[in-house]
Amino acid sequence: METPIPQLQPPERLLCGPGPTNVDPAVVEAMRKPMLGHLDPALHEILHDVVDMLRRVYRMPDGLVLPLHCTGTAGMEAGIVNLLEFGDKVIVAQCGFFGRRIAEIARRQHATVVTVDADWGECVSNDALMAALDRHPDARMVAVVHAETSTGVEHPLAELGAAMRDRDTLLMADCVTSLAGVPLDVGAWGVDYAYSCTQKCLAAPPGMSPVAVSERALERLRTRRTPVPFSFDLLLLERYWVERPVTYHHTAPILAIYALHEALCGVLSEGLEQRWARHAEAAADLHRAIELRGLELLADADHRLAPLTAVRVPDGVDGKAVQGQVLSRHGIEIGGGLGPDAPAMWRIGLMGQNASVDTADRVLAALDAVLMEEPAPALAG
Ligand SMILES: Cc1ncc(COP(=O)(O)O)c(C=O)c1O
Repeated sequence: METPIPQLQPPERLLCGPGPTNVDPAVVEAMRKPMLGHLDPALHEILHDVVDMLRRVYRMPDGLVLPLHCTGTAGMEAGIVNLLEFGDKVIVAQCGFFGRRIAEIARRQHATVVTVDADWGECVSNDALMAALDRHPDARMVAVVHAETSTGVEHPLAELGAAMRDRDTLLMADCVTSLAGVPLDVGAWGVDYAYSCTQKCLAAPPGMSPVAVSERALERLRTRRTPVPFSFDLLLLERYWVERPVTYHHTAPILAIYALHEALCGVLSEGLEQRWARHAEAAADLHRAIELRGLELLADADHRLAPLTAVRVPDGVDGKAVQGQVLSRHGIEIGGGLGPDAPAMWRIGLMGQNASVDTADRVLAALDAVLMEEPAPALAG
C-alpha cells in the first residue's frame, strides 16, 4: 500500500509565549503578492522602503540599517563577527539565557570575554558594567540584552548609552524582544550595533534579523585587520540593500521581505509611541492580575519588561503540566523556563497584535481554569 501524502494542517493557536507571536492577516496576505527576482529593479525600490521604515522604527538616522536574512541568534553572531577580531575583549552582561548566549558566541569567536553577572530576574547594573569597563579600558565592546526574554527583565539601555558616551568602547544591544514593543532610540542612545528579529513585537514570521549599525562601528569595520565571514559581512550586504546599482550577495527571501514591509507599515501607521503604550498597558494589566492571584513575578519591580512576563511556578505545582494543558485544552501557547538552570517559571508574551488587555485576559482565564485543578498553593490569595 502506498504511504499517504501528508496534509499540512497546523492547529490554530494563540501564541502568547516568548515568540513567535501571531502574524497579522495583512502580513500573511503580503506574501501572496507577485514574486520578483532578487535582481529586479522593482524589488530594489522595495528594499529601500524597508530600510527607510526600519530606520524610523529603530530611530537610527545615520549609519547602516538593514534586515539580515537569518534568525535573531545569527543577528547576534553577525554583530560579534563584524565588531570583534581575534583576541578582542568584550564585556557581557549576563542575567539570563540570552546574555549567556552572547558570551558563548564571543568565546567561539576567540574573543576574551569578561562577564558581569546578576541572578535570574535581576538586571546587571550599569554601575557594575561601568566598573568593569574601568577595570578593562581596552574592551572593544560592551554587550547587553535590552529585553531579556528568558526572565522578563528590561535593561536601562538609555542610561548605559549615556554613561558610555565618552568611551572608545562600542555598545551592542540585543533588541530582539524590545524593537517596536518598548521605547527604543538607538541613534540618540548611542547604541553601535542593535539586532532584533521579525517574530516578536514586529509580528511578522520568523526568519529575518533587522540590524542597526552606527557610523562609528562602520568606521571600525572598514579598518579591520581580518575579513568578516562572507555571509555576515555587513559592508557587502550594504552593497545589495543600500548602494545602487546593486551588487549580488545572495538570493534574498523575497516573500519574507514583503511580510516585513507590511509589518513595518503596520507599526508606523499605528505610531511607535502608541504601540509602546499598548504593550505597556497590556503588561500592566497582566502584572496586576498575576499578583492579585498571589503569584510572583520573576523580574525585579524596577526592571519589568512589557512584552514578556515571567511568572514563578508556585511550589507544589507542575509548571510544565500546566503549560501543556493551557496549550492542549485552550489552544494558547505560553513558555516555560529556558535552559537547564532556569528557575521554574511560565513566560507569557504579549507582543504585536497580542499586546492587548483582551489577550491578557484570555491567557489568565486559561491559566485559572487549569490551575483550578492543581493543588491549592497556586490559588492562594
Ligand atoms: C532576547 C533574545 N535574543 C536572541 C534570541 C534568539 O532569536 P532566534 O530564536 O530567532 O535565534 C531570542 C529568541 O527568543 C531572544 O529572546
